[in-house]
Amino acid sequence: MPTALTAAYILHTLFAGVWVGAVLLATWKVVPLAKGGDLGPDALRSIESGLTTLTRLAAVVFVATGGHMAATVYGSEGLFGTGRGHLVLTMLTLWFVMTALVEVGGRRMRSALDVGKVRTAARDADAFLKAASVAGLVLLVIGGYLAGPAV
Ligand code: HEM
Repeated sequence: MPTALTAAYILHTLFAGVWVGAVLLATWKVVPLAKGGDLGPDALRSIESGLTTLTRLAAVVFVATGGHMAATVYGSEGLFGTGRGHLVLTMLTLWFVMTALVEVGGRRMRSALDVGKVRTAARDADAFLKAASVAGLVLLVIGGYLAGPAV
């Protein structure tokens, strides 16, 4: 039987892969297609809505699992007094920044779609999703480092 801590690690890693993967694919493929006028407004709205829902669901999962992992494995001394703890705090900050970028990008996309402008919607969200993708890649690098042996 896995413990609550094991379950937290599994859920945390699962959402890390799914969320960052979804944001990367939206940035890499969906936005360029919409910018070129090759995606209809309904399709873009549906993708945007899926990304926003995933981002909000992931927020609950990251705060719950990450909070449990940080409290159980690190404690406040480990978090504030060690290099690995500082990386966990960096992870927390980057999660917040990435979430804000996806939310703002999604809001801009919705505003333009409300007046029927697909290309503008894609252009308006582009920079936010690109920045969110960079944050996501850095998050996975930090996660990969923390998953390795403590050196
Ligand atoms: C509320 C935000 C977050 C908190 C508080 C948090 C906290 C933590 C903690 C405490 C660990 C365990 C580190 C260790 O075992 O030494 C961890 C691992 C990890 N985190 Fe986060 N995290 C957050 C968000 C994220 C996000 C947004 C991602 C990626 C999208 C992410 C990806 C990972 C990965 C891949 C691991 C490695 C899991 C493993 O050891 O196998 N985390 N996180």
